[in-house]
Amino acid sequence: TIDIRPLYKNTGFFTFDPGYVSTASCSSNITYMDGENGILEYRGYPIEQLAKHSSYLETCYLLFYGELPDTKQLEDFETNINNHNMVHEALKSFYNGFRRDAHPMAIMMGVTGALSAFYHYNMDIHNKAHRERAMLRLIAKMPTIAAWSFRHAKGLPFIYPDSSLSYSENFLYMMFGVPTTPYVANPSHVKALDVLMILHADHEQNASTSTVRLSGSSDANPFAAVAAGVATLWGPAHGGANEAVIRMLQDIIDSGKPLEDFVARAKDPEDKFRLMGFGHRVYKAYDPRARIVHEICHDILRELPEDSPHKAMLDTAMKLEEVALSDDYFKSRNLYPNVDFYSGVIFLAMDIPLNMFTVMFAMARTIGWISQWNEMREDEQSRIGRPRQLYMGEATRDYVDISKR
Ligand code: ACO
Repeated sequence: TIDIRPLYKNTGFFTFDPGYVSTASCSSNITYMDGENGILEYRGYPIEQLAKHSSYLETCYLLFYGELPDTKQLEDFETNINNHNMVHEALKSFYNGFRRDAHPMAIMMGVTGALSAFYHYNMDIHNKAHRERAMLRLIAKMPTIAAWSFRHAKGLPFIYPDSSLSYSENFLYMMFGVPTTPYVANPSHVKALDVLMILHADHEQNASTSTVRLSGSSDANPFAAVAAGVATLWGPAHGGANEAVIRMLQDIIDSGKPLEDFVARAKDPEDKFRLMGFGHRVYKAYDPRARIVHEICHDILRELPEDSPHKAMLDTAMKLEEVALSDDYFKSRNLYPNVDFYSGVIFLAMDIPLNMFTVMFAMARTIGWISQWNEMREDEQSRIGRPRQLYMGEATRDYVDISKR
């Protein structure tokens, strides 16, 4: 028999909501989502307009400060980011501690967490200017940390940031450049990357953002809290899905089997297989980000030769979407492609390796994490996050001596 303990008697209203399906953990002014109608807005601006007209850094400014910057504010912000894009030389040695085949997300988790060792004693979370500096440092250093996790795996020398390049161009340079050699990135890759970064910048209280808020609610160091967000993002049910989508599409292509077989497997409750990149906790309509990503996919792949394997992959993805969306199982459960379904194809076309996909997501989402953390710290009502539980274990019983068990 289960004893629902009197524990809950004096707590007032008590809800049991596994997975927080219907519980708001905070109030926020940053991102609005309407899952029924497929709407996403940052600070009131529709994602479609930001993707079309804004830049990633301008969107970072908007998310953190709440308003779009004027020309001078944007220039100052970009300069500030450039001033912080180097990392402490000692941070480089952390990379050597990782095996060459370490997953770059494991490296990201470790190195982002290690930033807290460099910025702790001068980091007062109650000080607005300190919080702002933490944001600038994170946004500026994430591309450097991310690109170096790739170069470490490749055994390539690290490339230092070049502040004469734009944010996204600089990242591509640190990934693919050759030291001391002028670098010219493909402009459509730079543009696509910047838009992808905008689309991934924030998404209200998803698992990783909630993790950052929860760990930050204990007054933890913000760099440590963001490292916890990186850890949470890694899972294939969250940011790891973009990597899982490509593995699934490759399996489909390699198997030579009809797409219907995979859709049938995804529907089978006995089979753990799911269509990766499909479904979302909040969106019960087409994910508005997926629509934009799909368009960019076509733009990027247009430049590739007809027999490019990436084109075959996009083709397979589009056909899979068609088969799934005409199936009653997917229709009745409102399962549509999410942002991750097409983003991986773009990354592949940019020569970004599979195990770096979630790193790209982490880099983009850092502004969401730190803006949400800052909002929580600004809120004088905010308290340490402390979910309750529904105890389903044994009723009280007496200790039994080991000789009698
Ligand atoms: N393929 C097949 N069936 C699915 C899928 C899928 N991708 N997603 C959900 N379902 C089914 C479930 O089996 C369940 O069916 P049932 O009602 O018969 O039991 C129903 O749809 C509801 O699914 P839940 O898992 O309860 O939905 P939840 O909101 O908990 O999960 C999630 C959302 C994790 C995104 C899920 O849809 C999933 O696993 N998708 C694949 C992974 C993925 O793409 N993740 C990225 C999410 S977006 C992001 O983090 C950036």
